Amino acid sequence: MKFLLLLFLFDHISALNPAQFHEYCIIGAGPAGLQLGYFLQKAKRDYIIYEKTSQAGSFFIDYPRHRRLISINKRNTGERNRKFNLRHDWNSLLSDNEQLRFTHRSKQLFPSADLMVDYLNDFHRYYNLHIQFNTTIQNLKPISKQTTTCNAKDCSYSMISRFQMNDQHEYPYTCGIVIVATGLNIPNIPPIVGIDLTTGYENLSLNVEEFENQSVLILGRGNSAFEVAQHIYDATNFIHMISRSRVRNAYATHYVGDLRAINNQLLDTYQLKSLDALIEIDLMNHELLQRSIDGRIQLKRKQSDMITSIHERQETTIYDRVIRCLGFKFDNSIWHPDIQLEENLGRTSKYPKIRFDYQSFNHDHLYFAGTLTHSIDFRKSSGGFIHGFRYTVQALHRMFEYRYHEQKWPSIILSYHSLTNYLIKRMNEADGIYQMFGQLVDVILIDRINHQCRYLEEYPIQLLPHIEEITGYTSNNLLILNMQYGMNYSGAGRDVFAFDRVSASVNTADRSNFLHPVLYYYNSTLNETDFNHTKPGFLPITSSVRIHHILENVLTLWMQSDEHILPLRIFLENILNIDLQQRTSVSYARKKLLEKKLIIPISFYASL
Ligand SMILES: *[C@@H]1O[C@H](CO)[C@@H](O)[C@H](O)[C@H]1NC(C)=O
Ligand SMILES: *[C@@H]1O[C@H](CO)[C@@H](O)[C@H](O)[C@H]1NC(C)=O
Ligand SMILES: *[C@@H]1O[C@H](CO)[C@@H](O)[C@H](O)[C@H]1NC(C)=O
Ligand SMILES: *[C@@H]1O[C@H](CO)[C@@H](O)[C@H](O)[C@H]1NC(C)=O
Ligand SMILES: *[C@@H]1O[C@H](CO)[C@@H](O)[C@H](O)[C@H]1NC(C)=O
Ligand SMILES: *[C@@H]1O[C@H](CO)[C@@H](O)[C@H](O)[C@H]1NC(C)=O
Ligand SMILES: *[C@@H]1O[C@H](CO)[C@@H](O)[C@H](O)[C@H]1NC(C)=O
Repeated sequence: MKFLLLLFLFDHISALNPAQFHEYCIIGAGPAGLQLGYFLQKAKRDYIIYEKTSQAGSFFIDYPRHRRLISINKRNTGERNRKFNLRHDWNSLLSDNEQLRFTHRSKQLFPSADLMVDYLNDFHRYYNLHIQFNTTIQNLKPISKQTTTCNAKDCSYSMISRFQMNDQHEYPYTCGIVIVATGLNIPNIPPIVGIDLTTGYENLSLNVEEFENQSVLILGRGNSAFEVAQHIYDATNFIHMISRSRVRNAYATHYVGDLRAINNQLLDTYQLKSLDALIEIDLMNHELLQRSIDGRIQLKRKQSDMITSIHERQETTIYDRVIRCLGFKFDNSIWHPDIQLEENLGRTSKYPKIRFDYQSFNHDHLYFAGTLTHSIDFRKSSGGFIHGFRYTVQALHRMFEYRYHEQKWPSIILSYHSLTNYLIKRMNEADGIYQMFGQLVDVILIDRINHQCRYLEEYPIQLLPHIEEITGYTSNNLLILNMQYGMNYSGAGRDVFAFDRVSASVNTADRSNFLHPVLYYYNSTLNETDFNHTKPGFLPITSSVRIHHILENVLTLWMQSDEHILPLRIFLENILNIDLQQRTSVSYARKKLLEKKLIIPISFYASL
C-alpha cells in the first residue's frame, strides 16, 4: 500500500515537474557525441546524450553505401608511442583505454564500416555513457526569460535551464547547455528541374548487375560519386560525372575530404580514353534533366541560357540512369519554428553558422560538435572527420570546464631550460596538432620574470586573441607551435610530385613543403584584426613576429641534432635571451625522449 502510494506520489510529482533537466544535453550518439560524453563523464558532469535511433553511430549502418571506410587504420608504424600512433589511426576515439583502439579490430588499412558501428557501440557500453535511445529531439529553443534576465554571474552558470525541447512523444526536456552533434545526414537534393528522375546515393542498389549495359551520369564529384563509379564500372557502357569545379585530389590539396586515391580509378579510364568522362558544369545555373522519347534521361541546357560550353560534352548524350551523389546536409528538424539561426553562405552553407568556440553564431550556450563544426576549417584541415574532431571536441570540453566550472585549461609549467626538450617531444609525438594542422596549436606563455613558461596543448588557433577568456591564462610573450604544409604547396592543380618538392637543407627549412613544425614568437598579444589578414592555417605576420621552421623530415621525426635540435635551440636562445647549451645537450634530449618511451630511430643514434 505504501509502495503504491509512493508510486502514485512519484507519478504525480513528475507530472507536475515540467521537464527532465540536464546540465549538458548532447544531441546525437555518433562519434562526436560519444567523444564529448566521454569527456563530460570523466569530469563528472551531469550530461545526457539523446539519440534518435536505437544504437550509437547509426549513420555508419548505411554509409558509406559500399561499406569501405576511407579513414586510415594503420596498425604498424614502427613506433610504440601511443600519441604518435594516433597520428595514423583515423578511426579511434580518444580514451584512456588502449584496448579501445580501432586498430585492434581490423587488419585492413581501409576497414569495413560495419566495424565502426560495432566499435562505437562497444565504446558506449565500455564507459556506460548516458545515452537515451529512441529519442527524436524536436522544438529545441532557448527559454527566453532566463537568457535575457540573468546577471553576468548567473549567465556563466551551467545549471540554469536555458533551453527547452521535447521528444517524439511530446515528453519535455530542459538543458543548461546544448551541444548538437547530429552530423550531416539529410541527402542534399538541389532544386534542379528533373531531379526526381535521379536515383540517390542514399538508396542506390549495390547489385552491379542492375547497371549492365547502362550509360550512367553521376551528379557530383566527391568521394561518394567516385565510390559509386568504381562499384559499377565493371558493368556500365560508360560513366559521365559532372560537377561545378575541377577534380580535387586529396594528395594534392592535402584535404582528406577531397578525392582519395582509393576511390579514383575513374580518372584512368577517362584519361586513357575508355569512354568514361569528367565534365565541368554548374547544374544549379544552366541545366535540367528531361525524359527523352525512349524513356531514357537527357541533360539539357535551359533555353534561356546562351552561354556556350567550353567542355567536350555532347548535348545529345542520353543516359539510362542518373545518380545523385551530392552529399548530405544538416537536419534542421530539431529546431522550434521560432528559433532564428544565422546561415552560412556559399560552400559552407550545409553547416550551421558558428563562432570559433563552436558556439552558435547567434545563440549563446548552444554549441555544435563533430562534423557540424567543419565550416571553420572546411577544405583546410580535418575537423569534419573523426581523426580531427576528436580533438576539437576535447578543446570544446576544455572550454566548458573553464567557462562554466572555473577549471582552467590544462597546462604544465616548464623552466626555460626544459623547454627545448619538451618542444622536441611534442613535435615528434603530438597527435592533435598533427591531425588538426593549422587549426589546433600548442601555446607557450613565456613568463620573463620567473624564467619559466606555461605550456598549453591543442588550442584553437583562431581563439588566440581570446586566450585569457578561454583558458584563464595569458602573457604578452607568446610562442606558438603550429604544423604547416608549405604556404604555396597545396592545391587542386599543383604538381606535388615536382622534383624540387623537398627542402633538404637547414638553410632552406622555411621552404619545407610537407607538413612540418613551425614556431612563431610574438612579444605582444594577438588580436582579431591580425587574423583577418592571415591565410587560414597560418599565423599572422605582424611587425614583431619571429618565425622558425623545423626542416621537414620524410618520417616526420624531428630529432636530428644538427638539422632540428641545434637550430631550434639557437632560436629559443634568441627569443629567451639566454644560453641553453648546458642543459639541452643531445644526450639529455635523448634521455628525456627515452623516458617517454618514444622509440628513437636508428638515424638519431647515427647522428650523435
Ligand atoms: C528502441 O526501439 C527499438 C525498436 O524500434 C527497440 O527494439 C529497442 O528496445 C528500443 N530501445 C530502447 C532503449 O528503448
Ligand atoms: C529511396 O528513398 C526514398 C526516400 O527515402 C524512398 O521513397 C524510396 O522508396 C527509396 N527507394 C528504394 C529503391 O529503396
Ligand atoms: C549487353 O549488351 C550486349 C551487347 O551489346 C549483349 O550481348 C548483352 O546481352 C547485353 N546484356 C544485357 C544484360 O542486356
Ligand atoms: C606564396 O605565394 C605568394 C603569392 O604568389 C607569395 O607572395 C609568397 O611569397 C609565397 N610564399 C612562399 C612561402 O613561397
Ligand atoms: C591589433 O594588433 C596590431 C598589431 O599587431 C595593431 O596594429 C592593431 O592596432 C591592433 N588592433 C586592435 C583592434 O587592437
Ligand atoms: C574581421 O573580419 C570580419 C569579416 O571578415 C569582420 O566582420 C570583423 O569585424 C573583422 N574584425 C576585425 C577586428 O577587424
Ligand atoms: C617587440 O619586438 C619588436 C621588434 O623586435 C620591438 O620593436 C618592440 O619594441 C617589442 N615590443 C615589446 C613590447 O617588447
